Amino acid sequence: MSKSSSTDTQIIAIANQKGGVGKTTTSLNLAAALARHRRVLLVDLDPQGNASTGLGIAYDDRKRGSYDALMGESEPTSLPRPTNIAQLDIIPANADLAGVEIEMIDQDRREYRLRDVLQTVEGLYDIILIDCPPSLGLLTLNALVAARSVLVPLQCEFFALEGISQLVRTIERVRMAFNADLCLEGIVLTMYDKRNNLSALVADDARNFFGGQIYDTIIPRNIRISEAQSHGQSVLDYDARSTGAMAYKALAAELLNRLKRK
Ligand SMILES: Nc1ncnc2c1ncn2[C@@H]1O[C@H](COP(=O)(O)OP(=O)(O)OP(=O)(O)O)[C@@H](O)[C@H]1O
Ligand SMILES: [Mg+2]
Repeated sequence: MSKSSSTDTQIIAIANQKGGVGKTTTSLNLAAALARHRRVLLVDLDPQGNASTGLGIAYDDRKRGSYDALMGESEPTSLPRPTNIAQLDIIPANADLAGVEIEMIDQDRREYRLRDVLQTVEGLYDIILIDCPPSLGLLTLNALVAARSVLVPLQCEFFALEGISQLVRTIERVRMAFNADLCLEGIVLTMYDKRNNLSALVADDARNFFGGQIYDTIIPRNIRISEAQSHGQSVLDYDARSTGAMAYKALAAELLNRLKRK
């Protein structure tokens, strides 16, 4: 495993304000696949807490989490907790996260809260992934200010590209106002159904529009992926030979390759 200093930790926000496009599924399965090669931290920044549930984190183990990170109420190093997967830690979402955007509204440095916390713990990890909620509010803003890059899951469905230009504009604005280093890591096509012509059309459209920013790896629609989540497991642990598991392993390999080339 490579040794990292705090300066070469990659912090990647997984974001798309559209709901149900595969942000959480990509966050947790990519994190699990990357953890086979690197030390990984997953931050669950969505009040729905799906990434925490999908990795089998019990509610009792969520007393401290991303709410405390944003409110500055706990020592940052006390926030990450281990998962059942070696080399993968998580800062889970706790219940109070649902109201945190309103609580933070009149606070100082409200856009930098997550960045401040991650700067304290990043030396412990090679890669930090942040699962964002389906909005461009203060939670996602905290992720974009803390991150080096943004990975965008794009569902191969109707209206997939709608909203992407708004996301790209948001990244641009965050870069100008808060985080000059922020870039688009890439776009991952998710829930690809090879029996559905629409999937192929969306993939072609996306490639024509975004070219090399679209990852070569495509995540297929695969029932094992959603079953795994309901068992609190990554698809790699739930069914290592499924097309879903192989796709997320390939995505991790492609991401590591692209990071090397930067
Ligand atoms: N490749 C896939 N194959 C089959 N089911 C999938 C796949 N990817 C995601 N799903 C399922 O689709 C649903 C939405 O996925 P997910 O929760 O990852 O999206 P999301 O973008 O995080 O949603 P939200 O915007 O609500 O946070 C989930 O039930 C998930 O299990
Ligand atoms: Mg989600």
